[in-house]
Amino acid sequence: METDRAKLDNTIAKYGNDRSLLLSMFQDIQREYRYLPKEAIKYVCEKLNIPVVKGYEMATFYKSLSLVPRGKHTIHVCMGTACHLKGAPGVLEAFERDLKVKRGGTTEDMLFTLESVNCLGACALAPLVRVDEKDFGKVNQTSVKNIIDEYKRGE
Ligand code: FES
Repeated sequence: METDRAKLDNTIAKYGNDRSLLLSMFQDIQREYRYLPKEAIKYVCEKLNIPVVKGYEMATFYKSLSLVPRGKHTIHVCMGTACHLKGAPGVLEAFERDLKVKRGGTTEDMLFTLESVNCLGACALAPLVRVDEKDFGKVNQTSVKNIIDEYKRGE
């Protein structure tokens, strides 16, 4: 992916060229591209006189940052204990089957990234699925299809 250097310059300037705010800069870039392109890491680090390897360390340490392109929507299937007991493994399998993608993967159309997480803090709604910021409770294999359709229709 081509990164827009003027935009990167703006991001750096927005944080006052402050190297201690590298994470915030990376988060902004991640929001813009839905991942952190390698050339963006290199460009920002060089501009701020930070060793590029430090930039990579940060990019791989923080779960909110991704070095590979992510889908427009992130589906989190909770695999915490309560959700697990209420059938979360079957829910995850249904997403994998319907989206034709494995956990951690992104669909070919770049619409969804599928992830599993531990307790999302709403165990009464187990099994719980969170798509971006929205929660879906007591999910079963039928509602998996409905959730996917809801987001596909929104396109
Ligand atoms: S275990 Fe899934 S929300 Fe708590």
